[in-house]
Amino acid sequence: MKVIVADDYQEMSKIASEIITEEIIKKPNIVLGLATGTSPIGLYDNLIENYNNEIVDFSSVSTFNLDEYLGLNPENENSYSYFMWDKLFSHINVKKENVHLLKGDASDIQKEMNDYVKAIKECHGIDVQVLGIGSNGHIGFNEPGTDFEKLIDLVDLKESTINDNSRLFDNIEDVPKKAVSLGIKSIMNAKKIILLASGEKKQDAIYKTIHSEVTNEVPSTILNLHHDVTIIVDKKAAGKIKC
Ligand code: GLP
Repeated sequence: MKVIVADDYQEMSKIASEIITEEIIKKPNIVLGLATGTSPIGLYDNLIENYNNEIVDFSSVSTFNLDEYLGLNPENENSYSYFMWDKLFSHINVKKENVHLLKGDASDIQKEMNDYVKAIKECHGIDVQVLGIGSNGHIGFNEPGTDFEKLIDLVDLKESTINDNSRLFDNIEDVPKKAVSLGIKSIMNAKKIILLASGEKKQDAIYKTIHSEVTNEVPSTILNLHHDVTIIVDKKAAGKIKC
């Protein structure tokens, strides 16, 4: 596992965007696994800038997002679909048909999940997976206690996650209690993984990710078993790690 400690959020985002831009230039029809949350917003801003400066072209890129709240339709401002169009897709030349987002309000959620896994397979897997991390070590929405063997899962969100994520909702009661998430196995199947974390609130999760033994009680520890993981953190998130 490679760990890069950046000075701050801006530098973290810049480093991540440079890696991903390089990967897209190397493989224009790359399959990106994308994440939501505050952590990747700066990365997406930099990718948009690179696109505007004609450094990178998304016309052959495919994307798969990690997760979605159960019950939220794509027009809901709290849905991850809305987030992705707002923060990235609307500003670049990715083709709509190459964007894959889970439908949280699908009438048959099991079929939605099966079709999603099938679509990833048809694209020959994810080349680069971007991850954030929850303060409890969740990646995607794979919460502590997760089954490492799942390709995709319907999960009950932990109280800590509902609390953490309530900052983006009007009321804590509005935060969905369930979500659909690509499972740990799908994340581990990605050829390359980039995890981003910033701020003091992520110190413990980052410390455990790097220094704890692999345990499903801290889902991110599984990343120690992947051959190509880069963790990019700012100084605050890196506060507890040993060099
Ligand atoms: C949510 C998402 C995760 C994300 C996490 C951290 O729970 N499902 O994919 O990594 O939030 O979010 P943030 O980057 O805002 O701290």
